Amino acid sequence: MQSRITLNSRRESLKSCQKERAYQAPVKMASEISGEYNRSKELKDFDDTKAGVKGLVDAGIVSIPKIFIRPAEELAEELNSCRINCEVPIIDLTNIQEGNRRKEIVDEVRVASTEWGFFQVVNHGIPLSVLDEMIDGVRRFNEQDLESKQEFYSRDPTKKVRFHSNFDLYASRTADWRDTLTLSFLDSDPQPEELPAVCRESTSEYTKYIRKLGETLFELLSEALGLQADHLVSLGFAKGCSIVCHYYPACPQPELTLGARKHADPGLLTVLLQNEINGLQVLREGQWFDVHPVRGGLVVNIGDLLQIVSNDKLKSVKHRVVATHVGPRISVPCFFSGHSSLLDKPFRPIKELTSEANPPRYKDVVLREYVARFLSGSLDGKPPIDYYKQ
Ligand code: OGA
Ligand code: NI
Repeated sequence: MQSRITLNSRRESLKSCQKERAYQAPVKMASEISGEYNRSKELKDFDDTKAGVKGLVDAGIVSIPKIFIRPAEELAEELNSCRINCEVPIIDLTNIQEGNRRKEIVDEVRVASTEWGFFQVVNHGIPLSVLDEMIDGVRRFNEQDLESKQEFYSRDPTKKVRFHSNFDLYASRTADWRDTLTLSFLDSDPQPEELPAVCRESTSEYTKYIRKLGETLFELLSEALGLQADHLVSLGFAKGCSIVCHYYPACPQPELTLGARKHADPGLLTVLLQNEINGLQVLREGQWFDVHPVRGGLVVNIGDLLQIVSNDKLKSVKHRVVATHVGPRISVPCFFSGHSSLLDKPFRPIKELTSEANPPRYKDVVLREYVARFLSGSLDGKPPIDYYKQ
């Protein structure tokens, strides 16, 4: 039975690959007009609108600006890569405090985070109404009048609340088809009045719950690593976080761009809420797998720093978001990166997880430096984790 499902989904994937082949023509047209193209100017003009990708869609564009078009060689490569319909593990957290069930959950977390680096959790204790309100708040923020949004438009990373399109707009080869509102709960929480009025209450409520779930997940991961349940929490890992609200408008030419380019998350752990629109994909053994939205579910993935401190036991896996004709897709990753006091301390593989036979695989990593490398380097170059391997 299992193999039948796999075969069928492979057939479906092949069909969708064949469909993708139909899109070669626009790529050629784009490169034909490259003569008069001034990328820096186009990026600046786009940034200066402070209206993001949604501004383009509202203006009624039918073909996407060249700054969003992926290089021809990347598009050609895409034609050979099939999307397989297979699920990342879904873990039910019901009865998590009951001895036997907890052991099973810890086992499921171990398998998922060592083999996939990704899983979804359901029955995690956050009410559906809180999840729905969070998504609605992000929608309200993006769909309010332009002037109210523009007030928050900034690329200043020290601002606790900032809205922009593409954090690496000027460093990347291709811009992503998405806009982002970042709420930083790193050094200290923003005052409620600093949060945009249209999503103030929903965000405050969601943040309380997601922090608690973060602790639970770090406890499960500690146990999955064979450590005391409170090991990772006692290191301050569940403390600092950023709530990042992505808005992916429907795209008129989704085959030419991406919602988010291939990357691994730099921090410790990501817990992501998404609405009902597909788009997130995980790379496993050279294939892209869709992470289908599950009603009430949250996607959890391991970040680079957790891979480092676990000495490669837990996997930080590459993922991306494809653009689609339907939208908006809304997602809210919460990035846990640890208490602010950890920013200038070295991270290194946990002693209990190394031995003579299994020595540390990484040099010391200073978190502030690591994040800076991720933010400035763009997603196209050498992955930041590769700088620290030994
Ligand atoms: C991210 C990310 C995925 C999504 O922000 O790092 O991978 O579904 N987002 O928006
Ligand atoms: Ni990511």
